[in-house]
Amino acid sequence: MGNQQTLSHYLLKHLEDSEIQSELVSIITDIATAGKKISHEVQRSGLLDLHGAHGGQNVHDEEVQKLDDRSNEIVKSILSSNEHIIGLASEEESDIVDTSNGKLAGFIVAFDPLDGSSNIDINASVGSIFSVLPSWSDIRKDFLQPGRSQLASIYVLYGSSTVLVLTTGSGVHEFTLDPDNGEFILTMENIRIPESSKYVSYNEGNRSKFRGSEAQAIKKLVKDIGSARYMGALVADLHRTLIKGGIFLYPAVKKGDGYVGKLRMQYEVKPMAQIIVEAGGMALINNEDATSVAPDELHEKVPFVFGDSKTVKKYQSYRYDKK
Ligand code: AHG
Ligand code: MN
Ligand code: MN
Repeated sequence: MGNQQTLSHYLLKHLEDSEIQSELVSIITDIATAGKKISHEVQRSGLLDLHGAHGGQNVHDEEVQKLDDRSNEIVKSILSSNEHIIGLASEEESDIVDTSNGKLAGFIVAFDPLDGSSNIDINASVGSIFSVLPSWSDIRKDFLQPGRSQLASIYVLYGSSTVLVLTTGSGVHEFTLDPDNGEFILTMENIRIPESSKYVSYNEGNRSKFRGSEAQAIKKLVKDIGSARYMGALVADLHRTLIKGGIFLYPAVKKGDGYVGKLRMQYEVKPMAQIIVEAGGMALINNEDATSVAPDELHEKVPFVFGDSKTVKKYQSYRYDKK
């Protein structure tokens, strides 16, 4: 293939007007390096004894898998050596990792090192998610900025090929890892989510735990347009939705006396919402634009719905319009 554009070339060319060009390029380049390393380990996970549980539980009381832990160590070690990054937040770390070395201002990165960990042992798609934010003085407070303040949102999907999808606020672009030379090559520029689609994606096993109005709205939606698709890994479900359209829902489910969301604000919802909205779709936390909601705490979990605008609006009318 002639005229291939690498990620580094693309970044230098397209961020040249930005005042923070060199810092952001170096952060995105390091994230891509972490993605390549994790991709390498995912492909060899059966051979490297990286299947199965690691033995501990994370802050969400979920069983940590060996590859969750390994991916977390890879991202942490690469990003903590980047001089522009002053703080990290990970799904697999109970608290913020301060990498400031006394620096007061810089960049902070929240990440889900390995998303979809129930897919690891069955050779199905998994991914990594990253959210890059500016920070001025108080790392802890600055992680609680809403999604629209992100300088970059990125995911890497380890699927039948490894792709990195990124936005820095000017379009959503896909780069595919060429295993022959280890370079991420531009394969889709300015991705636009299709106008509508027949795909509805949610965990059917949770339906009896949804609020009544939610279950009703989803039932109507499925009847209206539905062809069901669900991978159980946000990165893979989102990538399908971005390329093929449709709607993904992870509504609040009943727990004790209340209803709780599952997906995590910092390293799942905020970056994924920015990518979907930038591609022309819609993302919701309850009935609000997901990019304008500020988290209250580091590991907050929320209900999350996103997809092509036509289908999301249809869902909103079924779910929230008063008859
Ligand atoms: P993680 O593997 O990082 O813990 O994330 C799992 C998340 C997300 O990837 C996916 O959308 C969702 O959990 C699936 O949850 P269910 O298994 O409850 O459907
Ligand atoms: Mn996840
Ligand atoms: Mn994870």
